[in-house]
Amino acid sequence: MSITAVIGIQWGDEGKAKIVDVLSEDADYVVRFQGGANAGHTVVAPAGKFIFHLIPTGILHPHTTCVIGNGVVFDPEAFFAELDSLEKKHISTEGRLFVSDRCHIVMPYHRAADAGEEELKDGLSIGTTRRGIGPTYAEKARRRHAIRMSDLMDGAAFPDHLKKAIDGENRAAKTRQKGETFDHGKILKQFENYRERLKPHVKDTVPLLRDAVAAGKRMLLEGAQGVMLDVDFGTYPFVTSSNTSIGGAATGTGIPPRKIDRVIGVSKAYATRVGEGPFPTELSGELGKRLLEVGGEYGSTTGRARRCGWIDLVALRYAIHLADADEIALTKMDVLSGLDKIQVCVAYEIGGSKVTEFPASASVLAKAKPVYETLPGWTENIGGIENTRDLPAAAREFIAYLESALSTPIGLISVGAGREALFSNRRETGGRSGRRG
Ligand code: GDP
Ligand code: IMO
Ligand code: MG
Repeated sequence: MSITAVIGIQWGDEGKAKIVDVLSEDADYVVRFQGGANAGHTVVAPAGKFIFHLIPTGILHPHTTCVIGNGVVFDPEAFFAELDSLEKKHISTEGRLFVSDRCHIVMPYHRAADAGEEELKDGLSIGTTRRGIGPTYAEKARRRHAIRMSDLMDGAAFPDHLKKAIDGENRAAKTRQKGETFDHGKILKQFENYRERLKPHVKDTVPLLRDAVAAGKRMLLEGAQGVMLDVDFGTYPFVTSSNTSIGGAATGTGIPPRKIDRVIGVSKAYATRVGEGPFPTELSGELGKRLLEVGGEYGSTTGRARRCGWIDLVALRYAIHLADADEIALTKMDVLSGLDKIQVCVAYEIGGSKVTEFPASASVLAKAKPVYETLPGWTENIGGIENTRDLPAAAREFIAYLESALSTPIGLISVGAGREALFSNRRETGGRSGRRG
C-alpha cells in the first residue's frame, strides 16, 4: 500500500471506519479530507467502542500520524470532546495529530443556522445532522466572513476578523424568523481559549503531506459520508455539502490525484440512508425493521434510526465510477443471515421505462420503482467465519453475483463489527493487489 483512499459508495455509514481501522495497522498516515463532525465512524477495538466524528480513525494505532485536511470543516467543540475521551483512555495524540491551517471553522452561528433552516415550517428539510456543515461550507464559498484556522491562529488580527463575521451574522439574523444574535465578547473569549489548546496541532499540512508522499510513506485517506451524499453527484439537494467522491480526496488534502494508488469503495451487503431524500430500495415493512434491528442501524452521530433497504446496483455502479473504486469492501454480510431470499436491485422503472443510469433529479428518482433479481439466502450464522471458502454456498453465490454485476472485485468481506471479523476475498489467482490496469 502506498496511498489508498477508503470511500463510502452508498449513503454513508457503510462501515468505512472499520476498514480504515484494520488497514491503519500498515499505514504511516491517516488523513480525513472532507465533511466534519457530521461523520460518525465506529471502531470496535479490544479497548472498547470508539465513535470518531472528526479525528481520523487511525489515531487508535500509536504508530500513525493523523491529519485533518484542509477540506474538512473543523468544529473545535467536537474536536476537544474527542481529544478528552482519547486522553481518558490513555491514547496519546502528542506530536501525531495535525489540523490544516486552511480548515474552515464551524462557528456557533453555523450550527444555529443549520438547526434553524431544518426547523423552518415552509423550508426544505434535508434531515441534516445539525452540525453546521452546510452553513460553514456555504460561507467558505461565499467568502465574506468565513473563519479559517489560520485566522484564529493570528492572535492580533482575530478579534477584528471575528467582529466583522459576527456583525455580518447578526445583521443577517434580523431577517430570519428565529433571529438569534451572537455576542462578540463571549465567542472571542471562548475561541482565544481554543487557540491555546489547538496550537500544537495546527500546521500547514500541504508540505507535511507532500513530503510524506515524496518519502514513500504509506497513507490512508479516510472518506466521510458516501458518494450518494456528494454535493455534485448525490441525490441533490438531499446531500451533504462536500465532495465525498474521489475528487474530494485530492482537493481536501492537496495530494495530487495521480498520486492516489488505490481506492477501496465500501458498501454494506444491503443499503441504508439516514435523513430525508429518495431511496428507491427502501423497505418499509417487517423486512426493513429486521435489517434495522439485526444490523443495529441507529446513527452514530444523531442516534436516528436509519432507513433500510436492499442493495441497489444502479446506484452502486454509478458510485463505483465516481469513487474510482478498484475494489469493494463488503460489510455487514452477517446481517443478511437467516433470510430465505435476498433481493438485488438491477434497474429502475421510471414512468414505464427501464432505467439503468442513475438520474440527476431527486424528484425523478423518487418515482423510481426497483427492478429486482432474487438470489437464495442462507440460514447459517456467518459471524465467526474467517475466509470465503467457509461461507455457505448461497453467500458465496451472492458475492460472485455482485462482483460480476458490478464488474468490480470484492476484496474484503466483513461479517461482524470487531477487527477480527474481516477477511480478504482474494483468490490465489485472479486477486488484484494493485490499481486497475
Ligand atoms: P462509517 O460511518 O462508514 O464508518 O460507519 P458507522 O460507524 O456509522 O456504521 C457502521 C456500523 O456497523 C457500526 O456500528 C459498526 O460497528 C458496524 N459494523 C461494521 N462492519 C460490520 C459488519 O460487518 N457486521 C456488523 N454486524 N456490524 C458492522
Ligand atoms: P458517515 O461519515 C450517514 C446525512 C444526513 C443528511 C445529509 C446532510 O458516518 O458515513 P449534513 O449534516 O451533512 O448537512 O446532513 O447527510 N449525513 C450522513 N449520513 N453518514 C454520515 O457520515 C452522514 N453525514 C451526513 O443525515 O441526510
Ligand atoms: Mg457513520
